[in-house]
Amino acid sequence: MRNGAPLPEAVDEVHLYEQVTSELSKLIETGTLRPGERVPSVRKLSVRRRISLSTVMQAYRVLESRGLIEARPRSGYYVRARRWTPPPEPEMTPTDFGSTKLNVGELIMQICKDNQHPSLVRLGATCTNNSHHPTPELHRSLAAMARRCVRDPLKSDSLSGTAAIRTQIARRALDSGCVLSPSEIIATTGATESVHLSLRAVTKPGDTVAIESPTYFGILQLIETLGLRALELPTHPRDGVSLEALEYALEHHDIKACLFVLNFNNPLGSCLPDENKARLVELLAAREIPLIENDLYGDLAFDAVRPRTAKSFDRQGGVLLCDSFNKSLSCGYRVGWVAPGRFQARIETIKFTTTEVSASLPQLALADFLANGGYDAHLRRLRRFFAEQVQRMTEAVTRLFPVSTKVTRPRGGQVLWVELPAHIDSMEVYRQAIQERIAIAPGQIFSAKRKFRNYLRLNCGNPWTAEIEQAMKRLGAIIGELDERGRNGPGFRTSALAQPKPGCSARFNVPI
Ligand SMILES: Cc1ncc(COP(=O)(O)O)c(C=O)c1O
Repeated sequence: MRNGAPLPEAVDEVHLYEQVTSELSKLIETGTLRPGERVPSVRKLSVRRRISLSTVMQAYRVLESRGLIEARPRSGYYVRARRWTPPPEPEMTPTDFGSTKLNVGELIMQICKDNQHPSLVRLGATCTNNSHHPTPELHRSLAAMARRCVRDPLKSDSLSGTAAIRTQIARRALDSGCVLSPSEIIATTGATESVHLSLRAVTKPGDTVAIESPTYFGILQLIETLGLRALELPTHPRDGVSLEALEYALEHHDIKACLFVLNFNNPLGSCLPDENKARLVELLAAREIPLIENDLYGDLAFDAVRPRTAKSFDRQGGVLLCDSFNKSLSCGYRVGWVAPGRFQARIETIKFTTTEVSASLPQLALADFLANGGYDAHLRRLRRFFAEQVQRMTEAVTRLFPVSTKVTRPRGGQVLWVELPAHIDSMEVYRQAIQERIAIAPGQIFSAKRKFRNYLRLNCGNPWTAEIEQAMKRLGAIIGELDERGRNGPGFRTSALAQPKPGCSARFNVPI
């Protein structure tokens, strides 16, 4: 029996159920229908496609037997959460104790400029499209503050920024274990300015700064432009910088400052356990070496409780805590801050001689938003969103990249650090991808010594779309071709690669 108008005689039921099976499989594989989502009801599909209920049922039974959908009592059919094994994680980055002058700034600028093109699918840059931020609410606060200050010259009430934003920052600092008063905080124009001021306050050209390896390329640019040297420390993808390596480096090198992103480091996603933060602060305090702590991603923990900052263990004022709301609230307002501890007077002078004081209207707008609630609820949503996007991107890498690819498993933040087979040069991937209007961040720009040749960083901060799925497929194909070429080239060891199970995709346990 058929619903609706009869089908032409030539179209047989076997063909129809296979067609439905294949179409739905495709929708599930491409992520159009996602795990946990309901598939169209048997009745609806039968009416819509003008096929019998039993044909739809047959297709659904096949999909069920393949593990793609599941029946829930009195509720219908749903896409099943796929059982898949995430790829292995990269290992601790190698030890290599030599400080170096930097020469990566030009390459970084070129890649940042390439990334500006509006037609690109940006899989590398961490600036998100703001769709998951409370932008309309912030703009309302901005308009309200502008109206309130209509006859006011909009000058800050202090050289350290508006009291309103510094009070809100001090209140929020409690969440990371810090007891700060508003007078200990200087508002800046983003974390980049905070780190810049801090580096200038505690070093002079030629000094050596210890950093994590890999580290955010903007930090490398700052070190380079200030004429400093960098010493890259081995860093574990989960537990962060090696304190043993740091101790060794402190004994053998004249390190003038440490500059670390301890919570959800970009690009590794690593997080130094809180007890190690206490040890780190102690270690540096004993030698009177300042720690510049960049906590830009601390609020973006996937767990309910965010990790502490090293600053929260600081009793001697040796930690300069740098942060901004650019990742957690809005990258356009560019409100950041630094709590410089005992270097406050120095930072105030440098700030005064560069930008004097940061623009007050964005600070007032953010302070208004923070004071009126909503930030905590927004953070909860944002953390969930980033956790889901990281999961989706990991799934895509698992599905589409060569089987020996390794990926980090961050517990916060918005990026993945991907280790490709050793013979793949991520600059070559970058060049080929950009031809196809896909931008990635190649591994070399995260190292003072241009290490990480076969690594790349992926941004997971934007909602998953068909365009991103398509771009990931193309990227997977480019990497796959380079992998194939490399494997057939001289000197390749077959044992280096694991082989997928017959009939299975690279790492999914279920056949596809
Ligand atoms: C570790 C780190 N620090 C600083 C920045 C830049 O921060 P802001 O936009 O607040 O200047 C970024 C941006 O990606 C980052 O990842």
